[in-house]
Amino acid sequence: MIDTSRQEISNLELAQQQAEALFAAARRAQTFAYAPYSNFAVGAAVLLSDGTVFPGCNVENASFGMTVCAERVALFSAISAGRLDIAAVAVVTDAPTLCKPCGACRQVIAEFSKADNPVAIVCACASEAISAEPITTLLPDNFILL
Ligand code: THU
Repeated sequence: MIDTSRQEISNLELAQQQAEALFAAARRAQTFAYAPYSNFAVGAAVLLSDGTVFPGCNVENASFGMTVCAERVALFSAISAGRLDIAAVAVVTDAPTLCKPCGACRQVIAEFSKADNPVAIVCACASEAISAEPITTLLPDNFILL
């Protein structure tokens, strides 16, 4: 674990530094995906600013709309452990090309993102392709309740 408490490092740099561990946690969570309807297993891992990782997988339901994406499962797990210092969210699938978080997950991630150091989103798929970008690129102008 590395000490990032002084915020000398951006979330994007931290996510790239920790990518291997983050993707490994997401791949492990992906094996627990409950996806009997879509057969599309997704794994996620949330990286906190102190290096702690919370995993998540998608959890489907016979009432399809009740399905929860892997990203939100991981994020809500961190939040419910009292951790709001979200640095990055990793998403992995077995798709041939990169799958980035859906619109609903982008809005939920943006809720916990800081203006001066946005949450990093890192994605991997079945190919060698990897992406790393701030949530503000994926969801500019997110909804804010004033
Ligand atoms: N899914 C995720 O877990 N994350 C996303 O960002 C988009 C979609 C899941 C939901 C469902 O279980 C399956 O992928 C197919 O849509």
